[in-house]
Amino acid sequence: MTDPSSIRRAQFGRFGHRVDGVAAKLATPTPVETGQLVHLSGMRLEVAGLRSPIGSRCRIDARMPVDAEVIGFQGDRLVLMCEGGAEGLKPGALVHPLTGSDRVPVGNELLGRVIDGAGRPLDNLTTPLGAVTVPLRGEPLNPMDRGGLSQPMDVGIRAINSLLTVARGQRLGLFAGSGVGKSTLLGMMTRFTEADVVVVGLVGERGREVREFVEDSLGPEGLKKAVVVATPADTSPLMRVAGCWRATAIAEYFRSQGLNVLLLVDSLTRFAQAQREIGLAAGEPPVSRGYTPSVFSVMPNLIERAGNLGSGSITAIYTVLTEGDDLQDPIADAARAILDGHVVLSRRMADSGLFPAIDIEASISRAMLQITDSDQQEQVRRVRDIHATYQANRDLISMGAYRGGSDPKIDLAIRHQEGIAKLIEQAIDQPADFTSSLDALARLDAAMEQDASQPPPVAGNGQAVPVSQPPALR
Ligand SMILES: Nc1ncnc2c1ncn2[C@@H]1O[C@H](COP(=O)(O)OP(=O)(O)O)[C@@H](O)[C@H]1O
Ligand SMILES: [Mg+2]
Repeated sequence: MTDPSSIRRAQFGRFGHRVDGVAAKLATPTPVETGQLVHLSGMRLEVAGLRSPIGSRCRIDARMPVDAEVIGFQGDRLVLMCEGGAEGLKPGALVHPLTGSDRVPVGNELLGRVIDGAGRPLDNLTTPLGAVTVPLRGEPLNPMDRGGLSQPMDVGIRAINSLLTVARGQRLGLFAGSGVGKSTLLGMMTRFTEADVVVVGLVGERGREVREFVEDSLGPEGLKKAVVVATPADTSPLMRVAGCWRATAIAEYFRSQGLNVLLLVDSLTRFAQAQREIGLAAGEPPVSRGYTPSVFSVMPNLIERAGNLGSGSITAIYTVLTEGDDLQDPIADAARAILDGHVVLSRRMADSGLFPAIDIEASISRAMLQITDSDQQEQVRRVRDIHATYQANRDLISMGAYRGGSDPKIDLAIRHQEGIAKLIEQAIDQPADFTSSLDALARLDAAMEQDASQPPPVAGNGQAVPVSQPPALR
């Protein structure tokens, strides 16, 4: 005899199958969301009928389809900005949201490659697709998970290693005008640093400069362990901003592999200018020198993504353009506040042929005390002091108004300016590792100390010796 409960179970089973069949017939396919282009001015588009979130991307039908990013909304219309030109767009054109566009493919195959802000190759090789994708704008981090600054990072530049020691995970600004050697210095760091991977974001440079940087400053040797993301000045502001985020996302990927990454962004100013264009198109008010509020909220978001996490680190250097020594520049101001130090390049030193033109008086690394020993700190203090003494009296000395022997400290400063210049000076093809940099600093300091303890040289007639003018620093 059959058990009644098993009969009931079988009946329920058949009923369930029938319900599933009916439900499948009733189910309609999910509607494909499309919008319509209703307004276009410049790069700003308005689209009706779509509800895509800010930051997502859409494709607009045209003979050559145009991609755009959602940057705001007004009532029930989305505000978008074109990623390229708007040629060929027609009123009423259909707009389709693109999915997955906020993720970046990453992987070791990116090493040695040059890509654009959208991840397309610029080096005529195949598309560098990575197996893994990471979010373009990163994931929020718990500040308590971040490691402190505790270990020095060898950047391969003598003046920085010895006088402005950089920590793993530190974020530095490289402040300079144009043509004083920023790109050359970044190229040297890429080739000489001990970092496992270097990610370079070239934002808003001229197209020619990108080629020069890759071929001359980096060369095949530097490119081996580097990834270059280049968005030159002729690309849309969206691409320039995306290039920065992409470079940062790639650096984050390598950090998550436990590697020490050096992230170089040239320049943060161009990133801010591109973000300003986006903000203005979205209808934001200009608040400071035409910069919109979003510029000042996005900059810390970008910079905060560098730092130490787990066993990996991102040490980041952002160049900041300071044209005509403009102290009121809001971007330089904001950058100074959020970064952990700044290296200033001096036009005067560059003009006198002293490269890298690092102005040690105006530069500071805020991590110095945490990562250096007291011997080095003491040496740095003395070298800075002597250098500052020279700078304070530079005009007097160069006019010949300073009489040698009237102040022993100034005499000492004059005698050792050349030594300081030698410590800073470094040829393009000459690496300076950490140990040799510290040795050079210790030698200079020992020479100064020995000199200071000797009685001042006096000429036979009892008159102090006249001073000769050392090469101009700054
Ligand atoms: N370490 C260096 N040694 C010799 N010349 C240098 C050095 N760094 C820069 N220069 C000179 O300065 C010029 C400008 O450098 P570049 O790096 O292009 O400046 P920026 O990127 O600030 O505009 C170079 O063409 C080169 O002549
Ligand atoms: Mg440059």
